[in-house]
Amino acid sequence: MLKEQTIQIIKSTVPVLEVHGTAITKRFYELLFTRYPELLNLFNHANQKQGRQQTALANAVYAAALHIDNLAAILPVVKQIGQKHRSLGVKPEHYPIVGQTLLEAIKEVLGDAATDEILNAWGEAYGVIAGAFIQVEAEMYEQAEKQPGGWEGFRRFVVERKEEESDVITSFYLVPEDQGALARFEPGQYVSVRLSIPGQANVHIRQYSLSDAPGRPYYRITVKREAADAQKPEGIVSTYLHDRISAGDVLELTAPAGSFTLKDAGSLPIVLISGGVGLTPMVSMLNTLVETKPQQPVTFIHAAQNGSTHAMKRHVADLAERNEQVQAYVCYQTPTAADRMEGGYDKEGYIDLDWLQSVAPGPDAVFYFCGPVPFMKAMNRALKQWGVPADHIHYEFFGPSGSLEEAVEGTDPVLQA
Ligand SMILES: Cc1cc2nc3c(=O)[nH]c(=O)nc-3n(C[C@H](O)[C@H](O)[C@H](O)COP(=O)(O)OP(=O)(O)OC[C@H]3O[C@@H](n4cnc5c(N)ncnc54)[C@H](O)[C@@H]3O)c2cc1C
Ligand code: HEM
Repeated sequence: MLKEQTIQIIKSTVPVLEVHGTAITKRFYELLFTRYPELLNLFNHANQKQGRQQTALANAVYAAALHIDNLAAILPVVKQIGQKHRSLGVKPEHYPIVGQTLLEAIKEVLGDAATDEILNAWGEAYGVIAGAFIQVEAEMYEQAEKQPGGWEGFRRFVVERKEEESDVITSFYLVPEDQGALARFEPGQYVSVRLSIPGQANVHIRQYSLSDAPGRPYYRITVKREAADAQKPEGIVSTYLHDRISAGDVLELTAPAGSFTLKDAGSLPIVLISGGVGLTPMVSMLNTLVETKPQQPVTFIHAAQNGSTHAMKRHVADLAERNEQVQAYVCYQTPTAADRMEGGYDKEGYIDLDWLQSVAPGPDAVFYFCGPVPFMKAMNRALKQWGVPADHIHYEFFGPSGSLEEAVEGTDPVLQA
């Protein structure tokens, strides 16, 4: 238990650290990767370059520090981060390394302002926060390993087949190389895939949502190619999966994780909204609902750039045709000439509240959405404007978690691909 004086020091210095947040975390990662280069195998280099992970970790430490006298209040957040850590293989022995390095970065950036009293208080507080994470994650590791078909760390999976879902999105059907049982998962969960690329010093780990229902003899992941453009290089893992990985190749996976899962909605309708490749957890949820809850009304809304990037079009249309419970709607940002001839979409442009109100059953439903961040901000804002209660709104970030709360200027950009 921390002393009252220590708690006061922590709470009064959080704002100071927040002001220097970027400088501290930038220095923290420089020190961390210089001293422990093996950790480059754990962290996503693209997130590092774009500063997204820096913000996520710093914010989480400060948020936890503000609740240092009542960490139970932020347990759901600790569990959500813990899921990501467990999926990546973050271990108890990593915590002191991160703690010491963070303190050193704080000391360097704050200079004389970082008195011994302040540094000691932060050292103690970090210990308490780390303890909470380690405890939550220990339970998760045990559950992942002990469940039927579960395993520890990375397990080798053979690509059984590869299926093109659109011009930019491809599915991979994965079966355990050891031919053992396959753990069930909650629709909406993801796996971490570890890839070793010949000629590269470090391995790369990325998360991919499982895109089919649980209980199949395979796991399916569905990946969008992150192509290069004038502003950015091509995505390392997605491009390698598309171009170099074929049937018979092996991928390494950790057991399914994640807290974006289908909750029991009682008799309420469920609305699944996706932008681009954000459809993967939604299709898992849709397939599961059709099989296990045939009475539950489901509205599936998908936004894509156009018909050529629209994945799983036939599958979802077939489900909607065969199952009265499913209503499916499609929105194309910029339909092609072929799309205009064929039809096959219900709205042109972006999803807005007016249109959402015309197709969704009403605000008294449970909403799930996933897609690019601007798309998610637009959906979050529309649903709140419609009066959907916060506890009926669930979403997943396909990158480091962030906030959807900032105002979205002008026309809402809806994802694309
Ligand atoms: C929970 C979760 C579930 C996910 N599920 C899916 C899924 O089902 N399907 C799916 O396709 N993806 C999914 N993702 C995203 C996935 O994990 C990867 O992030 C994605 O495939 C890109 O990885 P990459 O290695 O190809 O790209 P990276 O190399 O990681 O690059 C990511 C992006 O950053 C850009 N970039 C890289 N370096 C720079 C730089 N210096 N400056 C500017 N831009 C740069 C790249 O061009 C690319 O667009 C999920 C992510 C999470 C967290
Ligand atoms: C109390 C200490 C820690 C806090 C508060 C913390 C917080 C976070 C947060 C908020 C995220 C983003 C989660 C998300 O995207 O949903 C994250 C991701 C991550 N954390 Fe931690 N973390 C801590 C300790 C550690 C340790 C000890 C390690 C291992 C060295 C670690 C490695 C990672 C990695 C590799 C990621 C994913 C990064 C990426 O995808 O770019 N973390 N952490």
